[in-house]
Amino acid sequence: MPVITNIEDLRLLAKKRVPRMFYDYADSGSWTESTYRANSSDFAEIKFRQRVAVNMENRTLASTMAGQRVSMPVAIAPTGLTGMQCADGEIAAARAAEKFGIPFTLSTMSICSIEDIAANTSAPFWFQVYFMKDREFMGRLIDRAKAANCSALMLTLDLQILGQRHKDLKNGLSAPPKLTVANLVNMMTKPRWCWGMLNTKRRSFGNIVGHAPNVSDMSSLASWTAEQFDPALSWDDVQWIRQRWGGKLIIKGIMDAEDALLAAQSGADALIVSNHGGRQLDGAQSSIAALSAIVAAVGDKIEVHMDGGIRSGQDVIKALALGAKGVYVGRAFLYGLGAMGEAGVTKCLEIIQKELDITMALCGLTDVTKVDKKILLPGTY
Ligand code: GLV
Repeated sequence: MPVITNIEDLRLLAKKRVPRMFYDYADSGSWTESTYRANSSDFAEIKFRQRVAVNMENRTLASTMAGQRVSMPVAIAPTGLTGMQCADGEIAAARAAEKFGIPFTLSTMSICSIEDIAANTSAPFWFQVYFMKDREFMGRLIDRAKAANCSALMLTLDLQILGQRHKDLKNGLSAPPKLTVANLVNMMTKPRWCWGMLNTKRRSFGNIVGHAPNVSDMSSLASWTAEQFDPALSWDDVQWIRQRWGGKLIIKGIMDAEDALLAAQSGADALIVSNHGGRQLDGAQSSIAALSAIVAAVGDKIEVHMDGGIRSGQDVIKALALGAKGVYVGRAFLYGLGAMGEAGVTKCLEIIQKELDITMALCGLTDVTKVDKKILLPGTY
């Protein structure tokens, strides 16, 4: 077992342990993957101001996100097919997040269902939805999230049509995987994963199977997004969701200052600067590059979060410095999950927490809520 000291170690281990189809699904972007790569490489361009002889004792990372207390301003992002990185993956990640004191967001495209998470955790979690053509089904999803005591609804606006990911097409991505010779040969080299999957019943889209009528092929992400997701979505529909839900609403997928103002006007509680991890509009800016203009445009009209490219606590603090109130980790926790299940997600969060804490201290601050642009070197952001 290698010594795990950073997120890249978790990624390498996950790559060994997770069948290729699901590792590739997590670790890829759309088309040329230029936005996917820029999401992390743009963080590297931003430099810190090193400060010395400042009292670094009694540090705190506690903050709030969408009004909820968090032990550090990092939440688990909603990611599709998480229960294919390891058996019952969403339950494992939700448990790790609960123990850590940070929000877990369950994706509509999860393998474990809303009810599975509610039955296996006690902290309220967040639920992410896509706008579907079938309003009744959407209404039922929202009611199920209410019944499960979810404390925020996250509405994703940037995936009404699926961006093409070459690897998924080539691998024939589906959940459960089709038992082709190539898949079987690949799975034989992943005994831990196979053992876990043999011991769970959760192998397809738990929120959908048995709940959504008229979907012809439920195992294929591409076909059911094409059939179910509504490309006619507008800001009026956002109001429908807001009223139907009636609780905290977070809007995800904002990359433009004009859209950010519309999100603020919609009455949502927070928006997430996000390009869907570079999985949708390839050629869009990185999230970290888009952040400052959005923060400047909305001022204090709406809380701003961000995701995309976060692979360390240093990335977290750079996003906070540029005005995000909190950030989300997607791939970073998926690598942990694929590498070591719940323990891997905990490891991922510990790594990020430690890097965040030490970086904050070396920048001369002791309270994460006080982080601002002054910790960054002018001209590098
Ligand atoms: C789903 O959210 C995806 O990006 O595949």
